[in-house]
Amino acid sequence: MSSSARRKERSTTAPMPSARPSLLLAWYDRHRRRLPWRAAPGQASDPYRVWLSEIMLQQTTVKAVGPYFEKFVARWPDVTALGSASQDDVLRMWAGLGYYSRARNLYACAVAVTREHGGVFPDTEEGLRALPGIGPYTAAAIAAIAFDRRTMPVDGNIERVVSRLFAVEEELPQAKPLIQRLAETLLADSRAGDSAQALMDLGASICTPKKPACSLCPLNEDCIAYPQGTPETFPRKAPKKSGTLRRGAAFVVTRGDELLVRSRPDKGLLGGMTEVPGSDWLAGQDDATAKRQAPELKGLSRWQRKAGVVTHVFTHFPLELVVYTAQAAAHTRAPEGMRWVPTATLADEALPNLMRKVIAHVLDLTPRRPS
Ligand code: ADE
Repeated sequence: MSSSARRKERSTTAPMPSARPSLLLAWYDRHRRRLPWRAAPGQASDPYRVWLSEIMLQQTTVKAVGPYFEKFVARWPDVTALGSASQDDVLRMWAGLGYYSRARNLYACAVAVTREHGGVFPDTEEGLRALPGIGPYTAAAIAAIAFDRRTMPVDGNIERVVSRLFAVEEELPQAKPLIQRLAETLLADSRAGDSAQALMDLGASICTPKKPACSLCPLNEDCIAYPQGTPETFPRKAPKKSGTLRRGAAFVVTRGDELLVRSRPDKGLLGGMTEVPGSDWLAGQDDATAKRQAPELKGLSRWQRKAGVVTHVFTHFPLELVVYTAQAAAHTRAPEGMRWVPTATLADEALPNLMRKVIAHVLDLTPRRPS
């Protein structure tokens, strides 16, 4: 046998390191977080609640999701109710949670489950992945938590716990397949959903990014990074590249108590959300070029540049906007594709956080007390 074949044989036959799933589940039974979408111990999970929470939890914290989850299930108690709502209502209810393509996919998924699956979620990873907005992680999470399929969804918390438990030296993201395989060793023979949620809770409460509380961890005897003394240095990561700063301008036009807005195109960043008119957002764009993209209205006052800038960080790039204001005369028509909305009803608009910042930068919308 050649030396490379021997190496290969060794690497495929080497025993997987292990930690004990039974210890993890015993800990979970005592310390699980009470979360609004979780079934009580011994109760069956509701796939609708599991799916809704998993979509909301993509890129958003458990704390931020809680109130949105409660609002959604109060208004739309099952998938058929959500699938029969209007997309605008769903986007409005979602406003503030960010990453709006999730909300459009959430709605498309509810419509698909209602119309094509008789209001019943598929119970396999494959069936779930065929639905809008459900990728490999979310399909595994729903399959495990709602249907007890023996599969392990690996999120950021689980990645951290597992990379420490097995002292994974390979850097992320290359280490993902290895971490996936190691995480699967923590699946108990049954209760797959609880095994996954136990790892999530462990990552959130004990195996935290900074200062993990290793002495309280149910898996500390099995953990390789703990005795090495530096568990917080895992997972190993290549240095992060942040996107290039983009610049642009936003134009806040008022007509008495009304504000000029438009809807963004359905596809792409913040798709379908409401915004004030603005310029392109480009790296290195200068203020004069951005300002030339101001909307044209008859009888508009001069543009005033508001001091300061509004900054926002999207996943792939940071953004800096300068803001201009102008006032339109009564009865001025909105340019094509734009509309006037009363500032008193702005809360009903699907306004992304960036636009809330822009508007707050120039308008004081705190309700006035009657004098
Ligand atoms: N993050 C993603 N899914 C979760 C879940 N089911 N419980 C807790 N945190 C989560």
